[in-house]
Amino acid sequence: MKRTLVAPSLLSADFLNLKGEVEMINKSKADWLHMDVMDGVFVPNISFGFPILEAVGRLCTKPLDVHFMIVHPEKYINQTAKAGAMMMSVHYEACVHLHRTIFQIREAGMKAGVVLNPSTPVSVLEDVIRDVDLVLLMSVNPGFGGQKFIENTIDKIARLRNLIDARNSKALIEVDGGVQKETAPRLVKSGADVLVAGNYIFKAENPLIAIDYLKSLD
Ligand code: DX5
Ligand code: ZN
Repeated sequence: MKRTLVAPSLLSADFLNLKGEVEMINKSKADWLHMDVMDGVFVPNISFGFPILEAVGRLCTKPLDVHFMIVHPEKYINQTAKAGAMMMSVHYEACVHLHRTIFQIREAGMKAGVVLNPSTPVSVLEDVIRDVDLVLLMSVNPGFGGQKFIENTIDKIARLRNLIDARNSKALIEVDGGVQKETAPRLVKSGADVLVAGNYIFKAENPLIAIDYLKSLD
């Protein structure tokens, strides 16, 4: 039986109650905590940086899944490793020397993820798919929580699954953006291994129940 991994996205948390939100994640069935770093250049929004990452890293008992929406993410590999990240994901569109960056992330002791914007085809990963631990498909244009899910993602997951199998890759497929009650089962059916969800979890009346629901999908 396939086990769906769930990664709540901290971007939608109540930042005035960050400690309480992380404690809620700690006692939940969530597998990872997803953290979005934005620079106002690669995406039209700014979120949080290392002071928050490090503070959350000290309290959070779940592995940190850090999603960089910034230009030159390679400059921050060591700092991200020091903050205790398990996974460092960088955008294909932001990395000129993606192969080098992937290996530097792994050398720093983290798992390496590559993120594709909705307009980037999975075929660009042909030559690195065996070297990455995870591919994160954006199912919204990156930068904001609470956006509408882009339907093309469902077919895109199937195309990525074919590429992974054809190349004998062990990469996990993660999906980020507009994941909620209705889209989540279809994403899992199409082959997603990891579901990121911000609004659906943190704005829920009971986030623990929202997490349980996503965990129940297979
Ligand atoms: C968007 C971020 C997402 C965001 C998802 O650029 O990468 O992680 O928090 O938010 P929801 O799940 O609300 O669409
Ligand atoms: Zn994200």
